Amino acid sequence: MCGIVGFVGRRAAQDVLVEGLRLLEYRGYDSAGVATVEQGTLFVRKRAGRIPDLVELLTHEAAPGTVGIGHTRWATHGAPTDINAHPHVGGDGLVAVVHNGVIENYAELRERLEQLGYRFASETDTEAIAHLIAHYLKESAIDGANGDDVASFVGAVQAALQQLKGTYGLAIVSPLFPGVVVGARMGSPLVLGVGEQEHFLASDPAALVRFTDRVVYLGDGEVVVIRRDGFEIEDSQRLSITPRVQVLDWTAEDADKGPYPHYMLKEIFEQPGAIENAMRGRINEADATAHFGGLNMTPQQLAQVRRIILTGCGTSWHAGLVGEYLIEELARIPVEVEYASEFRYRNAPIEPGTIVFAIAQSGETADTLAALRESKRKGIPTLGIVNVVGSTIAREADGGIYLHAGPEIGVASTKAFTAQITVLTLLAIYLGRMRHLSAPAGARLLERLRRMPELVQRTLDSTHDVVRQIAHKYHTARNFLYLGRHYNFPIALEGALKLKEISYIHAEGLPAAEMKHGPIALVDEETPSVIINPRGWVYEKVMANLEEIRARKGPVIAVANEGDDELARRADDVIFVPVVDDFLQPLVTVVPLQLLAYYIAVLRGCDVDKPRNLAKSVTVE
Ligand code: G6P
Repeated sequence: MCGIVGFVGRRAAQDVLVEGLRLLEYRGYDSAGVATVEQGTLFVRKRAGRIPDLVELLTHEAAPGTVGIGHTRWATHGAPTDINAHPHVGGDGLVAVVHNGVIENYAELRERLEQLGYRFASETDTEAIAHLIAHYLKESAIDGANGDDVASFVGAVQAALQQLKGTYGLAIVSPLFPGVVVGARMGSPLVLGVGEQEHFLASDPAALVRFTDRVVYLGDGEVVVIRRDGFEIEDSQRLSITPRVQVLDWTAEDADKGPYPHYMLKEIFEQPGAIENAMRGRINEADATAHFGGLNMTPQQLAQVRRIILTGCGTSWHAGLVGEYLIEELARIPVEVEYASEFRYRNAPIEPGTIVFAIAQSGETADTLAALRESKRKGIPTLGIVNVVGSTIAREADGGIYLHAGPEIGVASTKAFTAQITVLTLLAIYLGRMRHLSAPAGARLLERLRRMPELVQRTLDSTHDVVRQIAHKYHTARNFLYLGRHYNFPIALEGALKLKEISYIHAEGLPAAEMKHGPIALVDEETPSVIINPRGWVYEKVMANLEEIRARKGPVIAVANEGDDELARRADDVIFVPVVDDFLQPLVTVVPLQLLAYYIAVLRGCDVDKPRNLAKSVTVE
């Protein structure tokens, strides 16, 4: 939630900041703003609305200079207005601050600062940080007024940070120190970009891929100063930190929409490649098993695992549900799937032999991170299944598996989901091979999995047009039901979530057989049911559930196997997907449901990549 950027270099800062903010807009889009410093003067430009609104403002009132900070907001404290937009200015123009996170003691800080004579313009928690830094700058008599003593700027920031309770990623400029931006992090992500005679800060490396591929992930409690020709990092004790510069494997094209009208559609179509990348280098042919480089657990430790907890939020939680079916069936290990937001507070008893996997695209979701930390506190080995390399969950987990799906920008997750399922399938085979799966059985499962990029491509090609037509037919519906059983129950949940997120149509995903225990009362001629029923061992059961709906005149959209004329005959509309083994069905059945949500949202005129009220990375609890 909220994206921040900072820049010091030779080019016009406002252009770099706007470019970075565009790529961070998925983190929030209630307002946007920049602050630059030029010849000892601070320029602040901000307004409610999206990045194009800010760009419009900048065409009339440019923010000059080659040093600056920027922000795109997901409102927490205070409505999304011009005044509440970041950057916030402290001490009548001594500093400007952009902030991602929540300051819990801001009311108390505000009261103290108001007593000291600081006037607040906004309702935000962030403004308290700006005044606090200004206050400490004044207290230190502004020794660095000529810009030579950046240490006094950093000192004021550090003193202010000592007073804060809560989470923050911060970027700060001051007209008194015209050549630097100071950044700080606690609980919210912040990454430093290293360029040639230019340096950057951003909430997410995706914002930097156009400018540099060299990054340093900052840790909690660290404070960084960026200048045109270098940077320094120190910890909260003011001790210098030696940076670890990492090279990103994302390219600028990865973060581009290319020929697609929306990131979401592009990412749906990237799924064959994402699945391929999630498997790359992880199949051990010789031993008919999977191979992971970063689990940091010995085979002996893994062989002793008695219970697995999969935790996450939203779409990642749905991937966890698929993982439960996979691991229980293929590895015969009991699995529980926990909403991270519940698990973190539930104080569940955990027996020895348990391991926890935190599943997240962003690696920054506050609830998932808290669930991970709670597990660590209980002494349980923790592992991450994460897309964003170097993200907080990836760094704090004892080990893990990266998805390598490339940047996912559309707020509704698609390719990360299928990459998560791919990794969970490999994991299930790997754990199964340590237990009861024979080498021929392992080899057969891997051989089937390896064909999935091609089969998902075929699903995209063959369902695209028909799904578009179905979307036309049903896009005015007010309610949808999604039904599936076994491996396709989580896909029913995910199909419903996609539709809710981006088209604002009420939708419920259910295990098909649960219908008769209540939800069937919702069925009428106006309420389409999407029934996911490829051939498999629950096929006949779901067919019976389908008949119950037809008997009540509910329209049925079926997801069926190619050649299943019987199901096609019984449904009002049918989407055919390739035949695959039961355990691989989610990878193909979810694809037309993503497309259906996409085309319905487009037809309803919704902003697909930036749905209302949502943010991609939820870094508040
Ligand atoms: C937000 C997004 C969802 C996403 C969830 C978990 O709610 O809107 O699309 O599934 O966060 O995100 P994560 O990064 O933890 O996978």
